[in-house]
Amino acid sequence: MSQVLTIVANPRSNSFTRRLLQSFLSAYSRRNPADVITELDVYQCDIPVIDDAVIKAWDKPLQERSPADLAVLSRIDRFTDQFIAADKIVIASPMWNLHFPPQLLAYLATVMVAGKTFVYTEQGCQGLLHDKPVMLLHVRGGVFSEGPLQAMDFATPHLRSLCGMIGLTDFRSVICEGIEQAPDQAEKLLQQAMRQAEQMAETF
Ligand SMILES: Cc1cc2nc3c(=O)[nH]c(=O)nc-3n(C[C@H](O)[C@H](O)[C@H](O)COP(=O)(O)O)c2cc1C
Repeated sequence: MSQVLTIVANPRSNSFTRRLLQSFLSAYSRRNPADVITELDVYQCDIPVIDDAVIKAWDKPLQERSPADLAVLSRIDRFTDQFIAADKIVIASPMWNLHFPPQLLAYLATVMVAGKTFVYTEQGCQGLLHDKPVMLLHVRGGVFSEGPLQAMDFATPHLRSLCGMIGLTDFRSVICEGIEQAPDQAEKLLQQAMRQAEQMAETF
């Protein structure tokens, strides 16, 4: 039985991103009925920011951290520990301003914690997580897989790199793109992506 952590980053409820996620999860649950799927909506929970108090607490040796430091860090740890404990990660997000919505970036910062998900070594950064596949379900208005916008797809390569940094190299994605560019084709494009998501759920 696997624990699947689903991270949703869209404040809109009836969104294309949600529908793509629903297709993926329905197919996944049919295939893996015993697995436990936990949803974390980053717009519905209070994602802590990495501020001065957090950085000062991180910089102190463990035994010198005050109760106030520990309280500040526990707000981050809650998200880091949940991510570490999951067997599989699903991230559902639209593209916003050539990247992901800021709440998702704030969430990802709670996962990139030195000493917990990666360490710095003389050879460079070394990931501490392994064997956890990551599935990105991504919807975007323009077309970035080819053509003039290709060099502006910052979101997916960045997420892939962050996952690699913490040791998660099994990175998969389903991308629905061009829905704003061709609004009359949007529903068809989404249906195609939903079919692809269902197929990929079979082997996730
Ligand atoms: C604030 C905002 C910023 C956006 N920025 C981009 C962008 O930079 N590039 C792009 O292709 N689409 C952009 N879009 C379009 C969304 O990616 C697209 O409408 C969205 O993925 C639709 O999915 P949804 O129904 O799940 O929200 C943006 C949409 C919003 C609301």
